[in-house]
Amino acid sequence: MNSDMITIDVQKTQHSRLPGLDINNLPFGKVFSDHMYLAEYHDGKWGRTRIVPFGNLHMSPASSVMHYGQSIFEGLKAYRSDEGNVVIFRPTANQKRLNVSAQRMAMPDVPENVFMEGLNELIRIDQNWVPTGDGRSLYIRPFLFATDDYIGVKPSDSYMFMIIASPVGDYYGHPLRVKIEKTFFRAVEGGVGFVKASGNYGRSLYPSALAKKDGYDQLIWTDGREHKYVEESGTMNLMFIIGDKLITPSLSDTILAGITRDSVLTIARDWGLKVEERRIEVDEVIAGLKDGSLKEAFGTGTAATVAHIYEIGYEGVDYKLPELTSNSFSERVDKELDNIRRGRVEDIHNWVHKVC
Ligand SMILES: Cc1ncc(COP(=O)(O)O)c(C=O)c1O
Repeated sequence: MNSDMITIDVQKTQHSRLPGLDINNLPFGKVFSDHMYLAEYHDGKWGRTRIVPFGNLHMSPASSVMHYGQSIFEGLKAYRSDEGNVVIFRPTANQKRLNVSAQRMAMPDVPENVFMEGLNELIRIDQNWVPTGDGRSLYIRPFLFATDDYIGVKPSDSYMFMIIASPVGDYYGHPLRVKIEKTFFRAVEGGVGFVKASGNYGRSLYPSALAKKDGYDQLIWTDGREHKYVEESGTMNLMFIIGDKLITPSLSDTILAGITRDSVLTIARDWGLKVEERRIEVDEVIAGLKDGSLKEAFGTGTAATVAHIYEIGYEGVDYKLPELTSNSFSERVDKELDNIRRGRVEDIHNWVHKVC
């Protein structure tokens, strides 16, 4: 497919599931919009693209994705602006990051037109699935997976790129109690921690389940070599306000380059806050908790948005964080991001992409 514009075959559903559903009141990620987008890759090029009613896929049991894990994904959101428009937050950043993941996993790039035109058309068709309520949005899940029917370890020759969408509210809905993990690790240098490979999430489930048994909502991952530096948390990047600075682990090949992370750091710099992107020792976090210089800790991510941490567990001791106020940075930046998406303040960085 060489031309800039692609042709998408559209088959609309005769039976929308929307009537009868309260899309402002659904559990996260369990109900999907009426349609889905599919683009097929064969013989070294992208071919058929279509939008069809949401439904099951037919796949061979030999599909290589099920055996060797060539599977990557993205996560972004469409919002309803105060004026009633449907907008998507920074979609081209997701398209670019998908291709960073694709390269590391020996998969083909998804060209901008295959990604963006499919996304625009799907969200335009399913625009009534974008909720209106505060904190509500349409979560969008693009994903790419290997489809060769072949039992043998090699990069697949064929792939499917798809987009599905789900109306959502808060991912957590409450401040978090997190545990600094010292036994298991999420990523090591030279690995795939910096990409959104499905296997990164599968491998995190067992350690997270152990922490949940002890009442923690999430883990703070530490580096895989020494468990000495904090890295990230679940599906969020981590940020701390220590003294008068916003400090966050610098990006590396063990940390996902979060788009929310980048947005929060950009706003912080716009506001004149001192920002440090560097390695952060666990000891520095614990010392800040003990002497009170650590004022705020929070995660940033598309699903979780800005998620406050109220307690951090480390080596059997739980440390409480100070109460937040309306002046806390994480509160203010959370509001600012929402104001940008809803069109309440000027979008000076061109982050908001209008669909309709
Ligand atoms: C491991 C991990 N870290 C961080 C993030 C936050 O990234 P973003 O802000 O782009 O959603 C995510 C979510 O995609 C993630 O899965």
